[in-house]
Amino acid sequence: MARLNVQASTATMIRIDGRDVLAFGGCNYLGLAHHPAVTGSLAEAAGLLGLSTTASRETTGNTVVHDALEQELAAFVGEEAAILLADGYTANIAICQALARDHGVALIDARAHKSLRSAASAAGIQVFEYEHLNAESAAWLAGQFADQGVLMLTDGVFAADGALAPVPELLAVLPQRRATLVVDDCHGVCVLGDRGQGTVGHFGVRDPRVVVTTTLAKGVGCYGGAVLGGRAVVQRVRDQADVYRRSTPIPTPIAAAARAAVLAAQSEPELLRALRRNIGLMRDGLARLGIATHRESIPIFTFTLESNQRMEEVHRRLLAEDLYAPYIEYPGGPTPRFFRVTVTAAHSPEEIERLLAGLARHVGPVAAGT
Ligand SMILES: Cc1ncc(COP(=O)(O)O)c(C=O)c1O
Repeated sequence: MARLNVQASTATMIRIDGRDVLAFGGCNYLGLAHHPAVTGSLAEAAGLLGLSTTASRETTGNTVVHDALEQELAAFVGEEAAILLADGYTANIAICQALARDHGVALIDARAHKSLRSAASAAGIQVFEYEHLNAESAAWLAGQFADQGVLMLTDGVFAADGALAPVPELLAVLPQRRATLVVDDCHGVCVLGDRGQGTVGHFGVRDPRVVVTTTLAKGVGCYGGAVLGGRAVVQRVRDQADVYRRSTPIPTPIAAAARAAVLAAQSEPELLRALRRNIGLMRDGLARLGIATHRESIPIFTFTLESNQRMEEVHRRLLAEDLYAPYIEYPGGPTPRFFRVTVTAAHSPEEIERLLAGLARHVGPVAAGT
C-alpha cells in the first residue's frame, strides 16, 4: 500500500498534498505528541544538555533527565522500577535477553506483536504459540514446560483490533516458580486503568511475576521504550541486557518531552475523560451503522467490508471529502487488509460525527463487523 506523505499534522489533522484532512489514524491516544508542554520541553532540554548523550548510560552517557523519567514512568504505570530502552521493540529484546538464562521456553499469544516473538527467538528461548486470547491453551503448554522456566508473552491491548489480553487468567495458569508474564502494553499505557496506567492497572493485578514493556511513541506521544516491573527484574535488565548496556539512550530532549507527557497524562485527567467520551461516541456511531466492535474502553476500531475493492472505494471517497480513515495491511487483523480507525482525546464530538456521517453516506448500514 502507498505510504502517506504527511507534510504537517496536529493531533487530529494531517496535511497531505497540501490539503488538511481530518484524521483517525496513528496511536496518539491522548494527543500528547502535539501537547504544547511536551513539544516546548524539547528545546529547553536541548539548550541545557544537547541532543545526544553520545555514550551508553553505564559509561558516560547518563543524565538526571533519563533517571527522573524512569522513576516517573514507574510511578505512573504502578510498578516499582523502570528502565529506558531505545524503543518498544528494543524493550522486548531487552527483557528476553535479561531472562533467557533461566526461562527456557516462551509461550506466546498467536497474534502477539512480532517484536515479542523475534525477541524471544533471538535470545535463544524456544517459542511455542498458544491460541489467541486463550488462557486454557496457554495452561496446557505451561503444564508441559513448567520445569524449564516459562516466559509468557502477550500484548496487553492488541494493536490490530484493540482486543484485550486476559491477564488475570494468564497469571492463574502461569507456574509459580521461575516464570514471568511479559505484557507488551504499547497500546494500553495512557489508555486503560483509572489513571491511564495501562492494562495491568486496569485489571488491578499486583504480582511479582508480571513485567510490563511499553513504547513511549504512542500514548506518551514521544519516542523510546521501557521495561517496568519489580526492582530485581529491572536490575537484571540493567546488568544483563546487552541491548541496554551497549547502546546510547534516547536523546535527552526526547526524554525531557516524555517527562512532560507523563506529567500531563496525570495532571490533566480531562484528557483521559475526553478519550473515553470519544471511544463511546465512535463505538455507538459504528454500531448504528451495523458495524460491531469490541466493548472495551479502547480507542482502536477495526472493521471490514465485503471486499478489498469496496473498502478501497470507501477509503477513497472519504479522502475526497477530507476524511482519513486508515485502510491498512497489518498482521493480526480480521483480514489481511482492513479499516483501523482510532480516536484521540483531541477529537471533538463534531469531528467524530463527521466521520460517522461520511461512513453512513459511503458504506450505508452493513452487517459486516470485525
Ligand atoms: C504491540 C507493540 N509492541 C511493540 C511495538 C514497537 O514499539 P516501537 O515502535 O516503540 O518500537 C509496537 C509498535 O509499533 C506495538 O504495537
